[in-house]
Order: sequence, then C-alpha cells, then structure tokens
Amino acid sequence: MRRAIVIDTDPGQDDAVAILLALALGERFDLRAITAVAGNVAVAQTAANARRIVELAGHPGLAVHAGCAAPLVLKLETAEFVCGPDGLDGAGLPPPALPPAGGHGVDTLVALLRAAAPASVTLCMLGPLTNLALALRLAPDIGPRIDQVVLMGGAMGLGNMTPAAEYNIYADPHAAAVVLGAGLRVTLIGLHLTLTAIASHAQVARIGALATRAGRAVHGMLTRPRAGGLGSVGHPMHDVCVIGFLAWPELFTGRDCFVEVETGAGPLRGRTTIDWHGRLRQPANAHVLDRIDAAPFFDRAIDALARLP
Ligand code: BDR
Ligand code: CA
Repeated sequence: MRRAIVIDTDPGQDDAVAILLALALGERFDLRAITAVAGNVAVAQTAANARRIVELAGHPGLAVHAGCAAPLVLKLETAEFVCGPDGLDGAGLPPPALPPAGGHGVDTLVALLRAAAPASVTLCMLGPLTNLALALRLAPDIGPRIDQVVLMGGAMGLGNMTPAAEYNIYADPHAAAVVLGAGLRVTLIGLHLTLTAIASHAQVARIGALATRAGRAVHGMLTRPRAGGLGSVGHPMHDVCVIGFLAWPELFTGRDCFVEVETGAGPLRGRTTIDWHGRLRQPANAHVLDRIDAAPFFDRAIDALARLP
C-alpha cells in the first residue's frame, strides 16, 4: 500500500533532491501536500522553490503551501552561505509557473490531518520544525492522526551551524522541543548519520549522465561551487535520508532514546542531547538512527531519480 506523506521543507538543494526522490517513488508514496517553512532562505522563496521542484518533476498539480515565516521565538537565521541566494543555487531552474496554493501551511497540516484516518499520515520534516510545532499547539487533536514523524535534525556529535548544533534544530529549538515532547512516534536522522551519506564525485557523475531535466538540475545543484567545500569531498544528502529511510528501512539501524533539545540562547542553543546509553533513565521519545548503508542507498536513489523527466 502507498504510504500517505506530507513533506515539510525549506528547499535547499538536499530538500529538493528529497522531494524529487519521493515523487520518483510514486508507487510507494502518496505525497498529499508540501508545506514550506522559513529556513535555508525566507519562506516566500522556500515555497517558490518547492513549486519549482514539483514543476520540474512533472507534478504541477501538487499543492505547495507557504507556512511560518519565522521560528516560534527566535529571529530567523537563514543559510544562504550553504544554499546560495535563492536556496537552489546550481539548479538552473526558471521561476515557478504557478504561485503557492492558498491557505497557510499550518492550517493545511491541521486540515489534512483532521480529515485523515487515525495513524495514517507520515510527516517528513526536512527543515526547522516550526510548522508542525505550531500545528500541534493549535490543534492537539491531530496527534493521533499522525502515523510517524521522520525528521532530519540534530547530531550525536558536532553540529554544522555551531559546534553544538545542527542547523534545523538550531534554527528553531523551541519547535523541536515541542515536537519531541508531543508523545509522537518520531524518528530522528542526525548529522552523525547524514555525514556518512555524502554523494561521491562518481555518484554525482552518474546523476549527471541521466540526460533528463531532473538529472541536469540535481547535477547542477550538487556540483555548484561551495565556499571551502563546506568540509566534505562530495555533497551531503541530509534530507534525502528521510525519504530513503521510509523507502528502504533495511538500510538503516538505530535505537529508541531520550532526546532533549537545548533551548537556551547560549553556545549550546539547539544542541540535541541524545541519551544513546540510557544514562538519564528517561523514557525514550525518539527512534534515533545511527547508521546507513550508503552504497545501496545511492544506487537505489539514483535509479529512482532516473525515472523523472
Ligand atoms: C539541514 O540544514 C539544511 O541546510 C539542510 O537542508 C538540511 O535540512 C542540515 O543540517
Ligand atoms: Ca532542509
């Protein structure tokens, strides 16, 4: 049976590839809507970027809703230094033909979940968790409609935004604390895993050889010049791991843990304390993935992307 999913996202090159992969795997995923959030760039741009991606993939009818323009409490800190001024540097895509759909992203999440059967919708969270946190506060009754939340965020080791914190959790730590405290089934995919899923030059070249519009755009994004290489030899595929996990869970390992988010404004802001060894004796609130078998993940992802126009 196809899994009903919603993608909440701040594209972002890796978000874009994740959306493309979900659409390429249409026999597995019933993508009901995309909700955009402020993150890598401002929300008007992340929503426009999500539209550019669905149009590229040949799904112009898929609804993209713009959500929150700022984190719950803190000032928005964008990441153009990673993604470029429009968030999709290197994609070479035209502006979207259509504007985002009417209706705020948070209202969309609430309405869509209220209309769904119990435990039937999977939420794929690829950016700061603001939209979902606000939806849970606005409509706590949506919790039982959610089958699971799979989120890219956090780290068991060093962060990428600060030494302590990964970008998505750093950007809106209060939202992350709300989501982790909501009693939902949450799978957390942090930097400790995603930094072992770096597309190598050979894998990126395979994408470039696809000779499709999507292949060209992905290749352009993954080969764009990045200041200092941003610390890796290939290109990280952070958000793509969310879709990869849902499609091929056998390629991942993990365990149930207690995770706490630092919401203070100091140097630990956005730190995820992941109690891997259960030292704190707190009930688990997330399934934390620790390993991916990256070679088959890339093989399968590239094969799937090859089906797009
Ligand atoms: C996360 O931050 C964003 O820049 C990426 O899209 C990803 O969601 C990685 O830390
Ligand atoms: Ca993202």
